[in-house]
Amino acid sequence: MKVAVFVVLALAMVIAAEAFVRIPIKKTESLNSMMRKAGQKYTSGFNLDATSPVPIHDYSNAQYYGPITVGTPAQTFQVVFDTGSSNLWVPSSSCPFTSCFFHAKFDESKSSTYAKNGTTFAIQYGSGPVSGYLSKDTVGFGGVNVENQVFAEITNATGLGAAFLAGKFDGILGLGWSSISVDGIPTVFNNAVSQGLIQDNSFAFYLSKTTGVDGELTLGGYDQSKFSGSLTWIPLISKTYWEVALTAMTLGGKSVTSSVKAVVDSGTSIMAGPTADVKALAALVGASPYPLNPAEYTIDCSKISSVPDITINLSGNMYTLSGSDYIIDAGGICLFGFTGIDIPAPNGPLWILGDVFMRKYYTVFDYANARVGTALAL
Ligand SMILES: *[C@@H]1O[C@H](CO)[C@@H](O)[C@H](O)[C@H]1NC(C)=O
Ligand SMILES: *[C@@H]1O[C@H](CO)[C@@H](O)[C@H](O)[C@H]1NC(C)=O
Ligand SMILES: *[C@@H]1O[C@H](CO)[C@@H](O)[C@H](O)[C@H]1NC(C)=O
Repeated sequence: MKVAVFVVLALAMVIAAEAFVRIPIKKTESLNSMMRKAGQKYTSGFNLDATSPVPIHDYSNAQYYGPITVGTPAQTFQVVFDTGSSNLWVPSSSCPFTSCFFHAKFDESKSSTYAKNGTTFAIQYGSGPVSGYLSKDTVGFGGVNVENQVFAEITNATGLGAAFLAGKFDGILGLGWSSISVDGIPTVFNNAVSQGLIQDNSFAFYLSKTTGVDGELTLGGYDQSKFSGSLTWIPLISKTYWEVALTAMTLGGKSVTSSVKAVVDSGTSIMAGPTADVKALAALVGASPYPLNPAEYTIDCSKISSVPDITINLSGNMYTLSGSDYIIDAGGICLFGFTGIDIPAPNGPLWILGDVFMRKYYTVFDYANARVGTALAL
């Protein structure tokens, strides 16, 4: 009798402790998807003027994506959950096949909760504009249904290039701060919190290390079973991207950069830093520029076990990337997990801690306390 009561109580406690909801995150991997430019969304100023688009990077980069729904009944889309931008868009049913052929498209006429907005929308990508118009509807993610969400229906995605045309993701859901949302549109996450659908104003990522094994995005909390030890909290230095103070980055004890800012970005798959710094770093570990894009580097796979660790000091907290973390074996060819990108002031110079960092370190993005929490991912 007593035992049974305990079991019920324990179960209730487990449910209470797991107030967050989970979204499975899939990983795709190909050399093609790895060899790309990162971080173009950081190359111009913040969207302080609501009429100027925020540039975002070439999403041929996208490796991690998961499902959302739009409309009633639900229409499903695979989106990149991107902490480095703040808008949601999916392809419109009127997006021509030259742009959106392989992708799920939103059909307004099949949704009873759709409301027209119609305002023209554009995001400036490194390779060109992606455009469409705004609409309003119910957006579901992780079982939570956000009502009256303004999002963009894209009618021209040719700016994303061939990699989007054939890519696995249909759209992008930004998880950055509202301050960088194009047109000042309230973000899906902010609306979910303000509608009382998510209690704790935070989310967290567990990125799978293995293709075919799902990772996890949790909304409204974090999943203790996905990391070891306790979380280390780092205060944000700006509420735009998830930006933290970079105290130092070293290789074998030697400083490799003088820049003092870093952003944690799930939408960038490798690490990115100032071109000159990354060039010198690549030379130190023996990586060679990739002929098709000299800002990226390949490295002899046999060096994985012999290259020195790279240590990153974020506000006094130490992170270590060893060869097996920062050298990516893409089937016999190895990619150095750092690329060069120069982000002008005032945003830059900065480093982008992309999926190479987030695979190793489980990361909690805490809006409520303007901080990120990290722990060694399992
Ligand atoms: C469209 O949405 C934007 C962003 O929320 C809003 O400012 C604007 O008033 C809306 N326009 C219409 C016509 O509903
Ligand atoms: C779509 O966008 C591209 C730029 O990325 C532009 O060159 C092209 O003219 C646009 N197509 C249409 C039909 O507007
Ligand atoms: C990391 O940076 C802090 C300052 O924020 C400094 O006190 C500390 O010595 C640094 N740690 C290492 C191991 O370099």
